[in-house]
Amino acid sequence: MKVSTGIRGLDKVLDGGIPQGSAVVLEGAPGTGKTTLGMQFLYKGIVDHNEPGIFFTFEEFPDQIYEDMKSYGWDLKDLERKNMLRVIGISPDILLEQMVANDGLFEQLVREIDGKRIVIDSISLFEYLSNEAGEKGRSILYTVRNIVRKFGLTSLFIQEDDNLDKSKIPFEHFIADGVIRLSLKEHMNIYRKRTLEVTKMRGTKIKEGEHIYQITDSGIYLLLASQIVTDKYISDNNEKIKTGIPKLDSLLGGGMAKGAVYMLDTNSKANYRHIVGAIYAERVKAGNRILSLLSSTQTITELKALMDLYGINIDQLAKEKRFYFIEHYNRPFPAGWEGSVFQVQDMKNEEYDLFLREKCTSLIKDNHEDWFAYYDLSTIFNERGAEYVLRSFAKETAFARSVGMTVLVLCNFKEVGVQAASFLERTSNGVFKTWVDGSYQYMQVTKSPDGQISKPYLLESIDQKPYIRLV
Ligand SMILES: Nc1ncnc2c1ncn2[C@@H]1O[C@H](COP(=O)(O)OP(=O)(O)O)[C@@H](O)[C@H]1O
Ligand SMILES: [Mg+2]
Repeated sequence: MKVSTGIRGLDKVLDGGIPQGSAVVLEGAPGTGKTTLGMQFLYKGIVDHNEPGIFFTFEEFPDQIYEDMKSYGWDLKDLERKNMLRVIGISPDILLEQMVANDGLFEQLVREIDGKRIVIDSISLFEYLSNEAGEKGRSILYTVRNIVRKFGLTSLFIQEDDNLDKSKIPFEHFIADGVIRLSLKEHMNIYRKRTLEVTKMRGTKIKEGEHIYQITDSGIYLLLASQIVTDKYISDNNEKIKTGIPKLDSLLGGGMAKGAVYMLDTNSKANYRHIVGAIYAERVKAGNRILSLLSSTQTITELKALMDLYGINIDQLAKEKRFYFIEHYNRPFPAGWEGSVFQVQDMKNEEYDLFLREKCTSLIKDNHEDWFAYYDLSTIFNERGAEYVLRSFAKETAFARSVGMTVLVLCNFKEVGVQAASFLERTSNGVFKTWVDGSYQYMQVTKSPDGQISKPYLLESIDQKPYIRLV
């Protein structure tokens, strides 16, 4: 069971919320919003989920907290009157004593309001305590955590950032079920950026990254790091087509949106053949017709060998006119492929432009199946020039979209320069990239119609289809 944090974005980061009964450390420097987040957790728990809560404060008087929280429109006194909330100003030693004692104040409070959530603001002061059992300093936290667990309470332990040695993992992190960290950083010189990061949470998946939050008039509001503005029309209305690489499909929200244009950005060291091979194989199996622009480095013989690996007989597909090729290099092709290879090496740019348009229109008109196109843009850059790409690419993708053709465009963003890369990125609906760093190859979705961006995944070679796996 997950307990909602009262912050929608944070619930998403935590895949639903904090596992019930967890003790979570909430740490950050003064002014980052820990008290606010702690109280929002209790306030929303009461108002939205009918779960009573207790707030223990060591450093401030309850009156000060009532006053501060009014700025978010939270009437805490009213909730206290309704026996849903307790705000208790207490010293750490007395709280500890009353927690350990049989039927102490702590137990009474929890029973009185049937408490489900608690916040302790802040546990930093426990450090200076010792108890009767001879426990000292931070190991007291064990005791506190165990008691809280015994009552089945979901708890936030606020920890003031002490700016001590950051290379060591603080003791609190070991005993806590989770750690949420708030930071305030300088941003573009004058702005300050507030970020939240969950570094640990037992029993739930977490969305990694530094998520930006704002303190607003209604409390803390968090935006997921992986959320950019969505291409809602495409993501909601288009059928998803699978890539044949299961993890990639899930990162793309089920697959590529049909009729959308995706870029595969790859550097020269990265091996992208299996990515393309897996997608071809999957599309062929799904009954798609394929249009493929051959690059100078990929010969038909090579492509045949690659597709053989995936159990796809490209020779037969070419003869049946289910697999078409655009060839810029006038290379020989097997007998029987005459109708499915388009030699374009002699076409001037205007002719080529026209050819693409007319050829695609007539192919699609004659064959009502879905179409998938693979377009090696580096070849077009080399053979037709950057100017041609910049002039025609937007038109070509618009055309592909209008006829419902799903397109994967291969390009090396680094090679084409920042300006062209940014134009290509803007023009396409989704981008995934693969690159080599050291002895590892990575893959990451950096743009998708539903606004999701993924973290970088390692690309591992495996023995069976699709021969690659994202880890
Ligand atoms: N309505 C509001 N809108 C924006 N910021 C606010 C509002 N109310 C308070 N704040 C700011 O929120 C910040 C966080 O306060 P607090 O939760 O007490 O942080 P912490 O407990 O980490 O020291 C304060 O710096 C305060 O100025
Ligand atoms: Mg505080």
